[in-house]
This record gives sequence, structure tokens and C-alpha cells, in this order.
Amino acid sequence: MIGLARSARAKRFMQGSRAGSFLARKYVAGQAPADAVSVAGELLSRDGIRSSLFYLGEYADSAQRVTESVAAKLAVAAALGRTVLDVHVSVDPTQIGQSLDPAMAGGNARRIAEAVWQAAGGRPGAHCAMLDMEDASVVDATIALHDGLKREGLPVALTLQAYLRRTGGDLRRQIAAGSRVRLVKGAFVGAAGVAYTSQREIKASYRRLAGLMLAPEARAGGFYPILATHDDALHAFAIETARRNGWRPGEYEFEMLLGVRMAAARDLARRGERVRLYLPFGRDWWPYAVRRIGENPRNALLLARSLVG
Ligand code: FDA
Repeated sequence: MIGLARSARAKRFMQGSRAGSFLARKYVAGQAPADAVSVAGELLSRDGIRSSLFYLGEYADSAQRVTESVAAKLAVAAALGRTVLDVHVSVDPTQIGQSLDPAMAGGNARRIAEAVWQAAGGRPGAHCAMLDMEDASVVDATIALHDGLKREGLPVALTLQAYLRRTGGDLRRQIAAGSRVRLVKGAFVGAAGVAYTSQREIKASYRRLAGLMLAPEARAGGFYPILATHDDALHAFAIETARRNGWRPGEYEFEMLLGVRMAAARDLARRGERVRLYLPFGRDWWPYAVRRIGENPRNALLLARSLVG
């Protein structure tokens, strides 16, 4: 799957073929900002599910790609501002220039957060520029980016990863600051010194961290927990902890990826929980979709069907 995600030939073929469009529809909310906003609107009206919009194009390796990513993020924030939807935009730091020029990335993050603030225009909702977290080499820079924007009073949120041993300390500081944090297991592999490497350890770490996020002190300090996982056992743990500690639905939320465990997302929403889906959009969808396929062996069948169908 990693080979397929990196293969320029597979990407050209899939992104241009009818077979590919089947996969794109499952995991991706269209190519243009307007397509993604329309999918977000349907999810809210049909299922009561909110969205965070993500322009595809990770690890931008040229100033031109960075400019294109930033423009797409500004466009989608403005388009969300013209609706009743949350102005909620996910941002990978490397998409906006982190690995090319950190100062440029800082400026771009500020422009996006300001665009979110302007588009929201003071109307109620969970509006923010959500910083995704990439590999361990950019964790400090991403936290610094978040903290700087937060100090300026801009609507910003941070993703932290349970697979990293350092996350307990990072999370405690964000809880004390009353931040908005999305907790994920982590899509990367780290050395044993800095990371938990087995699924068992990563899940145990997620539980401990979710427990901190949903503690009564976190609620009292205005912290906003976002539990981003497709794992039923962790959903149940979070709901049980939230209830025991006095959190009401809407004071925290669950987040999942479009096309992955949609029935579980709808079920949580029907039970009154606040649920958000991460909605990727853009032309460059193949590397993202193939990673989703790789996460579940049953999805390999989908891929095979789409190739022969
Ligand atoms: P896990 O893999 O433990 O599986 C739980 C259940 O879901 C299983 O039953 C499994 O079969 C099913 N499932 C999982 N993936 C599936 C798929 N593709 N198709 C069908 N079933 C599937 N990571 C990161 O490092 N930085 C980031 O910024 C983010 N951002 C982010 C945002 C959001 C909203 C989400 C949901 C996830 C991320 N991630 C991320 C990814 C995250 O770190 C992690 O790799 C995935 O969420 C997988 O872990 P889970 O706990 O969700 O499911």
C-alpha cells in the first residue's frame, strides 16, 4: 500500500480512471471547495454530523504547492462562512511550508486562522483552524505554531498523538491553557525510546490521555476534548468517563474520517453525541485513499473490485 501510495503511475492511472472515482467517492468529498462544503451540508442536515475540511496535498515540496494549498484553505474557510456550518479547517503544517521555511508556515497559519475568524463572523459554532500532527520531527514546531496563534486570540486547535511518550506532558500543558485538542493514536511509527510501538501500548496510552482530557479539572478550565478514533472500545470508555465527570454531549466531541465506519459515526450522533467527520477534498486524492484502504484488509477487496469493475 505504501508503494501504491507513492507510485506516480498508480496515482496517474487511478486519479484519471472511472475505477478510481468509486474509491474517491468513498473517502473524498470532491475536488473543489464547493464540493466539500456541499457534502458537509448534507452530513449536517441528514445525520446531524459536523465536518472539518481538509485540502489534500501533504508534504508540499515547492513554494507553488504551498501557495495552492493555502489558497484552497482560505477559499474553503470563506465558503463555509457563507453557510450555517462550522468554519472548521484542518491544516498539515508541511502543507503550508513548515519543511521549506518555518517562518512562511507561521505566516500562512496566521492567515488561515484569521480567515476562519473572519468567516465565522462571531456566529455560534465550533470554528477553528485545526493543526494536524505529522511525524515526530515537527511536533515541537507544530505546538509552537498553535501556542503562538492561541496567544493572539485566534481560533486554533491542536492534534496530539497517543503513540508518542511525550504526549502526557504536552497534553497537561494544553489542558492548563484551556485549549482545544484532538487526540489521535498516531499514523506514524517511532523508535521505542520516544514512542509506544505495540497496538496494546498505544491503546493504553490513548485511554490514559483521554482520561486526562475528560477529567473534571479539564472541564472547569474550559478545555475542549476531541476524541478522534474509530475504536468502539475507546468511544465507550470516553462516554463513560465523560458522564462520570459531569461532561455533557457538545462539551466534547468525537471525530472520524469520511468513509471509515460511517455506521458507527451515525450511531454516536443518533445517541446525542457531537460527531465530526474529517472531509478531505482536492485533486490529489490517491495517496490519501490508498492509506485508508491499507488500514483494513477488507478494503483490499474494494480496491480489487474497483480495478476490475
Ligand atoms: P484502529 O486502526 O485502531 O481501528 C479501530 C476500528 O476501526 C477497527 O475495527 C478497524 O478495523 C476500523 N478501521 C480503522 N480504519 C479503517 C478503515 N480505513 N476502513 C475500515 N475500517 C477501519 N494521525 C496523525 O498522526 N496525525 C493527525 O493529525 C491525524 N489526524 C486524524 C484526524 C482524524 C479525524 C482521525 C480519525 C484520525 C487522524 N489520524 C491522524 C490517524 C490516527 O492517528 C490513526 O492512525 C487512525 O485514526 C487509526 O486509528 P483508530 O483508532 O481510528 O482505528
